[in-house]
Amino acid sequence: MRVLVLGATGFIGNGVAQAFVRNGHFVYGQTRSSSKAAQLAAQEMTPVVADPTKPETWTQLLQDDVDLVIDCSASMADLKSLAESIVSAVKEAGKKRPSGYPPLNIIYTSGTWNHGNNRTKIVTELSPTTSPMELVAWRSAVEKTVLGAPEVNGIVIRPGLLYGYSASLLATLFEQAEATKQVSWYGKPGGRLGAIHIDDLADLYLRVGEASPTLKGIVFDVVNPASESTDDVLRAIARVTGADPNIVYKEITNPFEACMASSQICPPSLGRALLGWFPKKRSLVDGMDQYYAAWKASRS
Ligand SMILES: NC(=O)c1ccc[n+]([C@@H]2O[C@H](COP(=O)([O-])OP(=O)(O)OC[C@H]3O[C@@H](n4cnc5c(N)ncnc54)[C@H](OP(=O)(O)O)[C@@H]3O)[C@@H](O)[C@H]2O)c1
Ligand SMILES: *[C@@H]1O[C@H](CO)[C@@H](O)[C@H](O)[C@H]1NC(C)=O
Repeated sequence: MRVLVLGATGFIGNGVAQAFVRNGHFVYGQTRSSSKAAQLAAQEMTPVVADPTKPETWTQLLQDDVDLVIDCSASMADLKSLAESIVSAVKEAGKKRPSGYPPLNIIYTSGTWNHGNNRTKIVTELSPTTSPMELVAWRSAVEKTVLGAPEVNGIVIRPGLLYGYSASLLATLFEQAEATKQVSWYGKPGGRLGAIHIDDLADLYLRVGEASPTLKGIVFDVVNPASESTDDVLRAIARVTGADPNIVYKEITNPFEACMASSQICPPSLGRALLGWFPKKRSLVDGMDQYYAAWKASRS
């Protein structure tokens, strides 16, 4: 396939783009920075240096070149408007394809925080997301737009908390444990984490991408089949970093902390049923020594 990955230098985007490269696909990797373009070229992608909020700089590719666009971009400042502007640009480009061209396929990256917070209730890809976490309350509307757009084949992937290599959001916990010899977390003990290793997530994107013409309107939750005890994860971090084994719980002070403290039990089923996908990596707790060593090494 011919694929454009938006956010190809990111934690998810780079893993995903490399999975497509390794499986023989032609990959354009988008970045805003010309200095990061060389890294993408070295990984056998064709770099596209463009600002995703300026559609005129990259959407021509969608009109007459690529089969599939994968949005893995993120913005620290305003993820909502970035996502909205990308999705509307992709829909516009989808409309402008010459007649006779098959529809453009798009995978939008959402997240399991859309399921809200519950420590006991099991939810699925088919569950309504009527009480999402406040930070991502806007995201259900973007998902709906992607899934229902008549101009494109829209698919949504909702990853859980990512781990592996440079550790994504968990990096902060390792840093803090090393610096203060203390592991602290938000809310109260007893949480459940739905986590997924980037390699397993990238494998799901690859399978979804390859089958994308047949998957219009489908949502995939992507976490390990069993959730993990948040307390076990925090204790494992304390153990590998040599921090105090007693975890400190702090009051939640903002919507991001509420997301980190939240629990979702959303065992994936469509990835396996439709695409034979099954995660292979060790869980966060079982693999923690390796994951900590990888994070440490990735800093230098
Ligand atoms: N990490 C997780 O645990 C996790 C879990 C579930 C869902 N997600 C979702 O997955 C998506 C990707 O997450 P990630 O952790 O892989 O992101 P990331 O590594 O923080 O960032 C991805 C890329 O987005 C680009 N970017 C950053 N700021 C931007 C801006 N203002 N405008 C345009 N592009 C910008 C950057 O590329 P350049 O600097 O090269 O342009 C960056 O490499 C997000 O939507 C996130 O909500 C993440
Ligand atoms: C979790 O779900 C159960 C069962 O539907 C419900 O009784 C409970 O109130 C929910 N908990 C929260 C925190 O929403």
